[in-house]
Amino acid sequence: MKYAKMLAEVAKRLSSKRFSHSIGVSETAECLAVRFHCDTEKAKIAGLLHDLAREVPMNELLPRAQAFGIVVNDIEQAEPILLHPLLGAKLAQAEFGIDDAEILQAIILHTTAGESMTILDKIIYLADVIEPGRGFKGVDSIREMAQVDLDKALLAALDQSIDYLVKRCGLIHPATIAARNEILLKKREC
Ligand SMILES: [Fe+2]
Ligand SMILES: [Fe+2]
Repeated sequence: MKYAKMLAEVAKRLSSKRFSHSIGVSETAECLAVRFHCDTEKAKIAGLLHDLAREVPMNELLPRAQAFGIVVNDIEQAEPILLHPLLGAKLAQAEFGIDDAEILQAIILHTTAGESMTILDKIIYLADVIEPGRGFKGVDSIREMAQVDLDKALLAALDQSIDYLVKRCGLIHPATIAARNEILLKKREC
């Protein structure tokens, strides 16, 4: 499917606000891909499709994920919103014909992050956090870091996300902790 056709199909599935966000992530991911010598087409597509399942009603996320054979852990069971990246990757495959493992993995990791992230995974995670529609406190600092050092920006984004969850007594997905630990351990080796 061509990108223009994908745009039209994504527009049908999301609210205008989420569609604008998806375009913002796609364009931001493309810019980061140019900067960090990653595949720009894959970045554009993963950015556009990353939130395909974000507006699936909360009570449908778990049964729809299970219908696709997704293995659900305790944290995802308790916070079904965490299933939207996994279900989104399945929809990208089933409805958009995306079979590229790198694009699908970037979609899967866009909310929790995880261990052994590729450059594309980091770009999509960060593009979701810093696209132009985002306006939370500290976003400009992460935007600046993302122009220079993906790991530094990712660490700041993970810290921000973990801090947000801790303050609200929220559950933290183990993949998020694993991603953060991995960056910190890598830094200590330097
Ligand atoms: Fe999302
Ligand atoms: Fe998003």
